[in-house]
Amino acid sequence: MNVLVIGNGGREHAILLALKKSKRVEKLYCMKGNAGTAEIAENINVDYMNVEAVKAFALEHPEIDYYVVTPDDPLAVGLVDGLESIGKRCFGPNKAAAQIEASKAFAKQLMKKYKIPTAECEIFEDYGAALEYVRSKGAPIVLKADGLALGKGVLVCETLEQAEEGLKEIMLDKAFGSAGNKIVIEECLRGLKYTPGEEVSVLAFTDGKTIVPMITSCDHKRAYDGDKGLNTGGMGTFSPCPFWTEKLEKEVLKKIMIPTVKAMNAEGRKFKGCLYFGLMRTDKGMKVIEYNSRFGDPETQVVLPMLKTDLLDIFEAVTEERLSDVKIEWEDGACVCVVLASGGYPVSYAKGKEISVGDIKDATLVHAGTAVNDGKLVTNGGRVLGVVARGKDVEEARKKAYSAVEQVSWDGMHYRKDIGIKYREG
Ligand code: AMP
Ligand code: GLY
Repeated sequence: MNVLVIGNGGREHAILLALKKSKRVEKLYCMKGNAGTAEIAENINVDYMNVEAVKAFALEHPEIDYYVVTPDDPLAVGLVDGLESIGKRCFGPNKAAAQIEASKAFAKQLMKKYKIPTAECEIFEDYGAALEYVRSKGAPIVLKADGLALGKGVLVCETLEQAEEGLKEIMLDKAFGSAGNKIVIEECLRGLKYTPGEEVSVLAFTDGKTIVPMITSCDHKRAYDGDKGLNTGGMGTFSPCPFWTEKLEKEVLKKIMIPTVKAMNAEGRKFKGCLYFGLMRTDKGMKVIEYNSRFGDPETQVVLPMLKTDLLDIFEAVTEERLSDVKIEWEDGACVCVVLASGGYPVSYAKGKEISVGDIKDATLVHAGTAVNDGKLVTNGGRVLGVVARGKDVEEARKKAYSAVEQVSWDGMHYRKDIGIKYREG
């Protein structure tokens, strides 16, 4: 089969690397891709936010058998619906199902209606009413712009002053554009053992009938060591999550995952694809922090290397709604991804810096913001590369990943030195 993956980041490169292992894959394509995807796939220069342009490309290329749509924004505008309308087979939710990520208000109302454990919240479109509510609740309090905001639309406010300022930024100054037309104001959850709270990312395959959680992972969202600095798209991940147990998985399946699949069906929004559960362990059990309608980035970079089963077999089973027939197996051990970022990320950063790569042993370079310019590998984004390594445990995988990091450099490169060190039990 010839398979095209939509997206430009580390997640897409990781998906392509996993698909490359499939015996059934003949040729891979990536729209638009990066320097890493170009090594294993043909990069296609079409704007994937333009549904009509992608459909036209697909009609001109009948040799492509299957499309994998991964980023949140093309899912939210209905790229899967568009491709399916011309008879193309896809992995990824349709527009109606992708609402679970595209509107936080929708997700919160769904959880409330179907009693899925999450933080208490109220939703506002009126600034005055929102301000009154924030003042009545006090801090700490969490503000979330309703729409997609590149992962930046959430403000965890420790003081009332911060909350009032944040409310103004989102609703009046429109810091996140129209994503802030509606706002979700919610209770600040605290973790069971760690401050500010222990979070786990659980990605799951679902065909709308069956849901199968993948191996768990944890993200490091802040820019600097010790969870200092601004929130980023993710500075590194490790798998599995240290506090995850079989018992916890059973609880989460029963109280969160299966009810979510059923709720989406009941709403006439059958979800088919990868459903991502961002969860927090609290003193009142596991609660949903957020849903994503797609694979996480950089979670995918540590989850897929642990997958033993053919990824294309799983994708097709989801499309054909026969996921219950597939046995999904995972490797033992652990996996770590250290993100190498451009100087200044997540605020402003330069592009086009030449990257030097030495001898990488026992690790894989997963490309995110990279390009080739005049035959040279250069930076082309904030998060540039992920260095991924496996080991018998997180500590061993960490050592391998960090020794490979020493082989990579460019002017301004920065990364966290503490990826993999958190939530250690005992
Ligand atoms: P999100 O974009 O929804 O994942 O939120 C970004 C981050 O904000 C999460 O990873 C949490 O660390 C934090 N966060 C979101 N909602 C809450 C909440 N209700 N209580 C505490 N922290 C939260
Ligand atoms: N790493 C978090 C996300 O993909 O949203």
